[in-house]
Amino acid sequence: MTQPLPTRDTIVDFIEGIFLRRGAESYLGEAVSMAQHMLQAAACAERDGAPAAMVAAALLHDLGHYTNEMPDDVLMEGTNNYHEEAGANFLARFFPAEVVEPIRQHVATKRYLCAVDPAYFQRLSDASVYTLELQGGPMSGAEVAAFRANPYLEACVRVRHWDDEGKDPERAHPPFSHYRPLLASLVTS
Ligand SMILES: [Fe+2]
Repeated sequence: MTQPLPTRDTIVDFIEGIFLRRGAESYLGEAVSMAQHMLQAAACAERDGAPAAMVAAALLHDLGHYTNEMPDDVLMEGTNNYHEEAGANFLARFFPAEVVEPIRQHVATKRYLCAVDPAYFQRLSDASVYTLELQGGPMSGAEVAAFRANPYLEACVRVRHWDDEGKDPERAHPPFSHYRPLLASLVTS
């Protein structure tokens, strides 16, 4: 743990600090940095007129890559330390399920879409095809059926598409500060 647990009053500053200090790090195998990737995903969500919670989910979906920024007890809570679980468990302390669940399920959603949409697989980046195998490959028929019962299915699918779109080194995006009011409006009381 590198920092004390943020509070509802400091969570937006805390997240911005991660973007500013760590965002320039490379997104393994992609042509964009981690901050570029998440800011682009959020910009795509805004472009598509998405609700605030989906924009926030797109913006924060890979925050769990920075597990060493998060309090130790958050990491102990999860059934695994995969980045989507770590990020979701941390963010669930401050944001509603509409924000957190598409983040928790963004890897599962990739496995779901690969199973149900052959065109989706064709559009994945090379790095994403590589990690798909490590993540369990496309879902089985039974997994697809279970995933379809997910109440956040639509949000999961939309966030996943913005995630995949946010890997273009040429795409312009607003800075993190643009999203501060949106994030602050979503913090649970
Ligand atoms: Fe991502």
